Amino acid sequence: MPSDAHVKLFIPGPVEVRPEILAAQTAPMIGHRSPEYAELQARIVPKLRPLFGTEGRVFIVTASGSGLQEAAVRNCVARRCLCLVNGAFGARWHQVALANGKQADALEGSWGVAIRPEQVDEWLQAGDYDAITVVFNETSTGVLNPVPEIAAVVHQYPDVLLLVDAVSAAGGVEVRADKWGIDMCLTSSQKALALPPGLALCSVSDRAMARAESIPHRGWYFDFLEYENYASKNHTPATPAISLMRALDAQLDAIVTEGWEVRFARHQRLMGQVHTWVMANGFGFYAEAGYRSPTITAVRNPRDVDVGTLNAYLRGRGMLISDGYGPLKGETFRIAHMGDVTEGEMSDLLETISEFLEE
Ligand SMILES: Cc1ncc(COP(=O)(O)O)c(C=O)c1O
Repeated sequence: MPSDAHVKLFIPGPVEVRPEILAAQTAPMIGHRSPEYAELQARIVPKLRPLFGTEGRVFIVTASGSGLQEAAVRNCVARRCLCLVNGAFGARWHQVALANGKQADALEGSWGVAIRPEQVDEWLQAGDYDAITVVFNETSTGVLNPVPEIAAVVHQYPDVLLLVDAVSAAGGVEVRADKWGIDMCLTSSQKALALPPGLALCSVSDRAMARAESIPHRGWYFDFLEYENYASKNHTPATPAISLMRALDAQLDAIVTEGWEVRFARHQRLMGQVHTWVMANGFGFYAEAGYRSPTITAVRNPRDVDVGTLNAYLRGRGMLISDGYGPLKGETFRIAHMGDVTEGEMSDLLETISEFLEE
């Protein structure tokens, strides 16, 4: 296959973006202080609220999700934070906190095992924390951490802000920031929202804003107070990625047409399809039962399939999956089932992997 041939991405981000959404980026440029731009942002913001399950503020930031991990600790950690770590992205957030000069402890759980609310309670009792970071969906392991249950524990500690990374969850799994009491929830465009990379989105509570006001050196690019100030005029502090915002605008319309609930149900069915195939083909799951992700499956590989050879075969047929993350390379491979992927496309992928296994 020629090197520029279209290869459908079943990797955990960036995921496949539909041609209509890619095309939405090609409209002529506008100034970011123009009325046209303000209309674009004003149109997007209310459509973003259901993504986070909030009636409150949402910010659109030109960055990837890691930028908002940084924003979270800069704006919301005054004293010390507890970082829940049961995979690579929980570990990343802990590193981000330390790299920003924050005091941060890691509650290290086993990879593949969900963090339990009781563990969180023990740590919060023992330490003087004012924030906690939680990755909802660990993309490295395919574990969906029990955020609503963890949130219930965190709320027993009124000073502790709950910061949630929903990067590979939001848009594929329901998030209810207001109901669950999440103070900041962040995501990236290139995962279950099925957009190109480059935008990061978040909901921010009043409590988080009040915390930010109390912290003197929040930096500038990710300062929530700057964002709030500009948001009141439907602007952003710096030049935003206008083309990506046009794609976001179009994609949110498409999601409303599909229906948020219908979208979440499709993700559940896609997960079911992958699970059925995994069990029928002598593979297993890296994530423990009961906490498996609706957007990504980390497949245990007891058959020792060479993932590089499998992916070369798939690429020749216009598809691509992902190897295991970091230390899980080879021991697992990952199939993403997030975004706009259909059940028909998932069947094609799984049938093609089965063909490879038979050859
Ligand atoms: C759960 C999670 N958090 C954070 C990130 C980092 O996001 P980004 O690559 O958009 O900076 C990723 C990326 O895969 C992720 O899966």
